[in-house]
Amino acid sequence: MNRVFIKTYGCQMNERDSDAVAAMLRERGYAIVDSEAEADIILLNTCSVREQAEQKAIGKAGRLLKARRLGLNAAAMTTGDSATPPPPGAPPLRLVGVIGCMAQNRGAALLDSLPDLDLVAGTQKFHRVPDHLDNLLAGLRALGPRPASIVDTEGEPGSQNTISAHSSHRAVSAFVSIMQGCDMNCTYCIVPKTRGRERARPMDEIVDEVRALAERGTKEVVLLGQLVNHYGLREFPTVDGKSPFVQLLEKINALDGIERIRFTSPHPAGFRADLVDCYRRLPKLCEDIHLPVQSGSDRILRAMRRTYTRERYLRIVEALRAANPAMRFSTDIIVGFPGETDADFEETLSLFDAVRFDMAFIFKYSPRSGTPAESLGDTVPREIKELRNQILLGRLETFSNASHRALVGTVREVLVECPSRKGNGLFMGRDRGGRKVLFPGTSGDVGRLLNIHVEKATTTVLMGTVA
Ligand code: 5AD
Ligand code: SF4
Repeated sequence: MNRVFIKTYGCQMNERDSDAVAAMLRERGYAIVDSEAEADIILLNTCSVREQAEQKAIGKAGRLLKARRLGLNAAAMTTGDSATPPPPGAPPLRLVGVIGCMAQNRGAALLDSLPDLDLVAGTQKFHRVPDHLDNLLAGLRALGPRPASIVDTEGEPGSQNTISAHSSHRAVSAFVSIMQGCDMNCTYCIVPKTRGRERARPMDEIVDEVRALAERGTKEVVLLGQLVNHYGLREFPTVDGKSPFVQLLEKINALDGIERIRFTSPHPAGFRADLVDCYRRLPKLCEDIHLPVQSGSDRILRAMRRTYTRERYLRIVEALRAANPAMRFSTDIIVGFPGETDADFEETLSLFDAVRFDMAFIFKYSPRSGTPAESLGDTVPREIKELRNQILLGRLETFSNASHRALVGTVREVLVECPSRKGNGLFMGRDRGGRKVLFPGTSGDVGRLLNIHVEKATTTVLMGTVA
């Protein structure tokens, strides 16, 4: 049996793509395994957003290929000691592939540093991975020289429609990819290059996918796209003042069995009243919003080509809080964009304080080759980036602690997802705001909505008992 392990770097889109590849491989008779030690085929689904993410995956691929050259199992290399024998019964590694964003970004150039890499498959070629593995395996069986590397990174019309199969994981809450690509061209961002132009999936196909998930027991869907609120703007008409994304939300809200809807990520540009209004009208839409701001300084926002001002961002937040006072906000911030001064950073801090984000991903600026900002260089010293990062992390901890502590003594509606990873008899679910809640439960609780009385809180989780 061919046993495949897919290691995923980066964002939820990548997780979704990996799951679709896993489902397609299963369909083709491959086994999908949970650890690299069990695998004879390893695929790295990669991220290019920061240089560090690419270097991590390249390092990993290099170690795996070395294990393969030595006739070893992947697990033998994880200790860094090439003499470590593989665990008993572990298959030697046969194929190593790099797929997704870095494959798209670097293409055949990956073979310069990793000449015996078997497969490089880009972001529009996930559905071709089973064929490529079949062909590579046939080449191995032919007993000649090692089969030639396959590089497949062309654009393919309609590829956004191929990310629809689900392996059986994440049954209670499922990701659904509604579009691919991004037409915004923020100056720091490699994504338009790795993911291509914005392409929407047909609304009916998405609704059919969600209906099928609901029939399999899924209670929550997380709609994914680089710019979800721009979904279908080019392909589908606005109806009664409602954007295609709002029409899609309405259709999913009407599906039996689906209890909760989330999405990630919207862009502040094009976040209009019709979408804000959904938080009043659509009961399944959760008051949990990830709205990347990147910076609080108008000067830096302009240099990033973010197409909104700090004022406009704060007005969207205000409108969403007016629609639902329980709205929970998270964001992405980049510190150390070229030319960011102390005064610019102060503006980011004051915006952070004004919104009181519960959650944030804070990134230190990483210049990406081929982006418009590349020519600006990397002018903010590393120590300053680190300092700004630490200051924001400190703020974040204060805010998330305070907002978690304020919930002690309240009752939260929790969708139960799975046993807690620590295996201590606790179960994990999320409230509508997306906060993790742990409580003593049973496997029969999985997939149910329970009212949990919150008794304790940390920065990252709430703990309680069934009310
Ligand atoms: N450097 C640092 N962070 C970046 N991001 C995107 N490009 C870069 C870059 N060059 C961050 C943004 C985006 C998130 C997914 O990654 O904050 O929202
Ligand atoms: Fe990158 Fe900007 Fe598109 Fe987001 S909106 S993927 S940050 S270009």
